[in-house]
Amino acid sequence: MTTPDLTADTEERKTIDLRSDTVTRPGAAMRQAMAEAAVGDDVYRDDPTVLELEARVAGMLGFAAALFTTSGTQANLVGIMSHCARGDEYIVGQTAHTYRYEAGGAAVLGSIQPQPIEFEADSTLDLDKVAAKIKPDDIHFARTRLLCLEDTQNGRPLPLPYLAQAAAFAREKNLRIHLDGARLFNAAVSQKVAAREISHHFDSVAVCLSKGLGAPVGSLLCGSDELIEQARRWRKMVGGGLRQAGILAAAGLYALDHNIERLADDHDNAARLAAGLRRFPELSIPEGAQQTNMVFVHTSEATIAALTTFLEARGIIIRGGATTRLVTHLDVNADDIDRVLAACTAFFQG
Ligand SMILES: Cc1ncc(COP(=O)(O)O)c(C=O)c1O
Repeated sequence: MTTPDLTADTEERKTIDLRSDTVTRPGAAMRQAMAEAAVGDDVYRDDPTVLELEARVAGMLGFAAALFTTSGTQANLVGIMSHCARGDEYIVGQTAHTYRYEAGGAAVLGSIQPQPIEFEADSTLDLDKVAAKIKPDDIHFARTRLLCLEDTQNGRPLPLPYLAQAAAFAREKNLRIHLDGARLFNAAVSQKVAAREISHHFDSVAVCLSKGLGAPVGSLLCGSDELIEQARRWRKMVGGGLRQAGILAAAGLYALDHNIERLADDHDNAARLAAGLRRFPELSIPEGAQQTNMVFVHTSEATIAALTTFLEARGIIIRGGATTRLVTHLDVNADDIDRVLAACTAFFQG
């Protein structure tokens, strides 16, 4: 372990950014792969690197086809719009990204009504509560068409038996089922299963390359040939038809080759962080909440505000709030975690 410097920054040193796993920067080898990518015009389906990435991800997740999108938000949007028509409805978690954090895109751009319900403590949606929200076939109501789940949700993988139950439920109720799998690979690594053991329960899955996998840009929507053709049209409409996108897809292929298994390191580092932070009585970290690369910290508003400022002066960036989410990733190692813990010791005991 390196000896941590507990004084405020006086010289340049590594910044430790724990706000999100989206803050990673592509390293030299990933940039090299991007520079050397074979490219073509992807709107004409001429870009060999995009085609390779789409085929690779579709194969990995057990789908007929995949579509490269600029972001997870775009993958979810074109997915929901491909399942639902104007006047249809999707059932979704109250704090799900596909409801709360995507600027209302499905409603604004797709005229698709969300029906949010509260997540359970284990990040599932209670299927009885979902059933109670399905609208009867009646001209007064939107047509309930789709159930959206999220994995991981708040850093928690959905229990595998639940996925099978949710899929059977959707079939029985004649609903489609979509997964926002922005961090699907975190779930798979944590649960020690192949990603397709999770994805095969769904009609469509959105997966991100630019979170824990460390690519600068890009997500994929996976589904049937028919669904993906429909999604390709929506993607064009929302301005996501890219040209020489192989430069970006090459980063994604590099990420799939090099950055999946190592997610276990991020999970270990998050566990190390959670264990270390539990030593401070001022902080509360719910048992069992840290399962992958996220640690959720509860404390008073005044404490988190002062801690945020203290850490920032020491090159450690967090986003403090009512609940503070600390996220480990490719650019944070075990020594960095020890530096964070040493700085917290200085704050609470210094
Ligand atoms: C669970 C989840 N889904 C979807 C997204 C959207 O991804 P993007 O930022 O690429 O639009 C995010 C982004 O952080 C996310 O956390």
